[in-house]
Amino acid sequence: MGGDCSKYLAERTLKIEASGIRKIFDLAATLKSPVDFSIGQPDFDVPDALKEAAVSAIRSGFNRYTPSPGIPELRRAIIESVARRHGYRPEACMVTCGTSGALTLAIWACVGEGCEVLVPDPHFVSYRHLVRMACGEPVFYDTYPDFLATAERIEAAATPRSRVLILNSPANPTGAVVPEPEMRRIADLARRRDWLVISDEVYDMFSYDAPAVSFGVLYDKTIVVNGFSKSAAMTGWRVGYATGPAELIEGMCKLQQFTFVNAPAPMQKAALAALEADLSGPVAAYRRKRDRICEGLAAAGYSFRRPGGAFYVFPEAPGGSGEAFVSKAIRENLLLVPGGAFSMRDTHFRISYAVPDRTIEMGLDILARLRRSFS
Ligand SMILES: Cc1ncc(COP(=O)(O)O)c(C=O)c1O
Repeated sequence: MGGDCSKYLAERTLKIEASGIRKIFDLAATLKSPVDFSIGQPDFDVPDALKEAAVSAIRSGFNRYTPSPGIPELRRAIIESVARRHGYRPEACMVTCGTSGALTLAIWACVGEGCEVLVPDPHFVSYRHLVRMACGEPVFYDTYPDFLATAERIEAAATPRSRVLILNSPANPTGAVVPEPEMRRIADLARRRDWLVISDEVYDMFSYDAPAVSFGVLYDKTIVVNGFSKSAAMTGWRVGYATGPAELIEGMCKLQQFTFVNAPAPMQKAALAALEADLSGPVAAYRRKRDRICEGLAAAGYSFRRPGGAFYVFPEAPGGSGEAFVSKAIRENLLLVPGGAFSMRDTHFRISYAVPDRTIEMGLDILARLRRSFS
């Protein structure tokens, strides 16, 4: 059994660079009960009404294939919810296997050989890999030091071959929220250059200082991707969606039909319940967590930008190296993610504050001690 099977791996698989931070995770695996600031998912459980909807769908036999674009009542409800929350009615909508499914299909459908895709730096790790899997070329637009996507920064990175722009606001790993006037300038730029925009709005419920603006309101050649992983804590249930121009959504549906087939049937019923539920409680709790973590980081002397959304902060690493700082933190029983996991630079580190309040306090104590060791 066994033998050398690596020769069977296709070029597209080999091209994905192995994570440079593997040794950090190896080190982290040695900890028994770490204070964990590394997890990018909510610490609250799926609300009971959604669990009931899923269980009752399963019990009533709603376990078979669904139409590939999703059950019609969920697709209608998503369009209604976008209209209610963002004030516009997308032309088309499909249900996907998580936001990741929507991102994958949008990129497979629209990015081909040599197509340049503008990707923020720092960014959610999947973007660059998905673009490369589609034989496209990621071109990074630098958002340091305040992590805001701006028309000026995007234009500085663009070339005549750029065709697709990826936006993510509120953002992972920085929590940055692009203000509406800047969103309008980006929309003007996209219109002028005739780009397709893929706007990842999975954290749109977690916008603490002003309601999040959907890019779909501002520019019609936009595929908005979103999902229920963060807002309803349904990370393991894999339901997301894409909205946008009918021709593009139809292209994505064609690909879904022969790959994922459909999002899990009973979980689509739960997603329908999620759209009807009041999810504002956890958002208010996360706003308080954001305030507390910012207060603690400032008191300890960290240099960071106050995040407006999501559940991350991206401070500068004392000593200058994200990886060295995170290794040191792990030796103090605190798990963080080095900035190099998300970026061309390794000068920062990511904190996820989607944790119980007690964990925030324990983590802040360790961070304050670590900061003192650099002064
Ligand atoms: C910016 C961003 N987009 C998409 C995803 C994927 O979400 P899902 O679980 O819905 O696939 C994540 C998950 O961390 C994310 O941070």
